Amino acid sequence: MMDKLAITGGNRLSGSVRMSGGKNAALPILCASLLTADTLHLTNLPRLNDISTTLTLLGHVGVRISLDEQDSVSLSAACLDRLEAPYDLVKTMRASILVLGPLLARAGEARVSLPGGCAIGSRPVDLHIKGLQAMGAEITIEHGYILARATRLQGARIFMDTVTVTGTENLMMAAALADGTTILENAAREPEIVDLAECLIAMGADIQGHGSDTIIIRGREKLHGAEYRIMPDRIESGTYLVAAAMTGGDITLTDARPDTLDAVIEKLREAGAKISCTSDSISLSMTRRPASVNLRTAPYPAFPTDMQAQFMALNSIALGVGKVTETIFENRFMHVQELQRLGARIEIDGNMAIVYGQESLQAATVMATDLRASASLVLAGLVADGETVIDRIYHLDRGYERLEEKFNQLGAKVRRIR
Ligand code: UD1
Repeated sequence: MMDKLAITGGNRLSGSVRMSGGKNAALPILCASLLTADTLHLTNLPRLNDISTTLTLLGHVGVRISLDEQDSVSLSAACLDRLEAPYDLVKTMRASILVLGPLLARAGEARVSLPGGCAIGSRPVDLHIKGLQAMGAEITIEHGYILARATRLQGARIFMDTVTVTGTENLMMAAALADGTTILENAAREPEIVDLAECLIAMGADIQGHGSDTIIIRGREKLHGAEYRIMPDRIESGTYLVAAAMTGGDITLTDARPDTLDAVIEKLREAGAKISCTSDSISLSMTRRPASVNLRTAPYPAFPTDMQAQFMALNSIALGVGKVTETIFENRFMHVQELQRLGARIEIDGNMAIVYGQESLQAATVMATDLRASASLVLAGLVADGETVIDRIYHLDRGYERLEEKFNQLGAKVRRIR
């Protein structure tokens, strides 16, 4: 039940590996199937626990799902029987909130559990709720559930005072079926927003400005079925690139999207990596010990919070001192204690971590706390002397497809202990 990962450090990564479809692109796109009675056919779907959770949730609502052997899925939301996201599913995956907008827009009603406490900070959903209220929804909170109703949502101008990724996605999906035009201001610009918008457009939605901070959605009476290929996972790509940089490796990622990784590639170059890209591949080679980098997380196109922990691992063995500032989530330094168990020297000062690069790390038993924190422990394990054992890797299985297979293909020694 509780799998562990054992990693023998000291192997240089080399070779080539294919990137999977993006988890954070797939989650909202799967939920977009709720917006039409026709069939939505998706390819490049990654096989991950968060994806299974979303499919279970959509199945609960009444979506008919057929998954093939490969990486595609057909979803048909012809009839919806339960307009709700129950607590048991939402508590395992916050992104379940993404059914709220689509259900309300299509069926006029939704009952979604509040996400509850999350390991990486309080992560409220107030902006999702305010945006839907601005579109005319009546929303109450009862017994830990968001109850939303609207005969037909109305287009509105919505300003979000914080940039929120799933908030922007929820409102964009709701607006696609609203009456009139919605303008989302201070919208998130993440590539996953663009991917969702492109899928909605393929389904007949009228959307402009996605990828900028102002998105204009002209509501349609109905959307129709479509076929859509999910974009590659940019955080998976970034994680493998950092792994190669830390091990003095030489790797090529295929089926990747370098245009979505500018901030990450920039920092890796600053650390001393040689990187070259084609439109869908990224090659990295590193011939010396990485140099420490300073970084600050912020909404796209700035440095992603989902790569912060991995760069902390890189800084742990780099030459020099690196300052890492987290501005998106409070309490997103849980990996620091575990990295310290492996010999990293890190001091925390508020939302900044100061990392003093060490010559080497030493293997130990450590515990995964959230998805990207776990990834940083894998990276540290790849360079530590001896065998690092990572406990509670269900976090990794939420977001990295065939992790040990992919690392082993590149020459690492990673073993799953069941
Ligand atoms: C998404 C990503 C996650 C990533 C994060 C930031 C998915 C499924 N998850 O999460 O991997 O780490 O973006 O890039 O795509 N906030 C509010 N009110 C709200 C909503 C958010 O104050 O109603 C705040 C949050 O507390 C946080 C900030 O906004 O401080 C950004 O959070 P948000 O972009 O919403 O994160 P998610 O969409 O949950």
